[in-house]
Amino acid sequence: MHIERYEKLWIYAFVVMLAVFVAALMAGAILFNVRVPGSAGLMNPADIPNSEFANPGVRDMGDGNYNVYVVARMWAFQPSEIVLPEGANVTFYVTSADITHGFIIEHHNANLEVIPGVIGTTRVTFPSAGTFKLQCHEYCGRGHQLMHIDIIVEETQVALAANEE
Ligand code: CUA
Repeated sequence: MHIERYEKLWIYAFVVMLAVFVAALMAGAILFNVRVPGSAGLMNPADIPNSEFANPGVRDMGDGNYNVYVVARMWAFQPSEIVLPEGANVTFYVTSADITHGFIIEHHNANLEVIPGVIGTTRVTFPSAGTFKLQCHEYCGRGHQLMHIDIIVEETQVALAANEE
């Protein structure tokens, strides 16, 4: 079969590009541990009072692991503040009580769309102490700009005490 020279070059270029994209995907997943946020299931917003989301906040699961339940509603997040220790490995569970909201944590790899009826989930590590904004980044009405809370990551006192000995 005869293939024109330029056509052949474009086919090579396409195959090389495809290989680069696949390599970038694999590098992201394996080397940089990039995880796409997912869904932990469905839940009718009317059932929020009868679920883990009735008492939103931090659950200490041991060994530096935490589960954090967050409810988004017009126009606030619950809880109103999240306090975690340095190095915490956190699994967030997020749902909306009313309409679609956003969920993004500054300086961390966490970005979700919060959809009523769906429990969104994402895993985030907080390697260093500081205060980070969790905010709604999807326009949700006239109070949208009010939807932000602080995540306060505290220095681990245990680690400091150990260093002094
Ligand atoms: Cu909620 Cu914007």
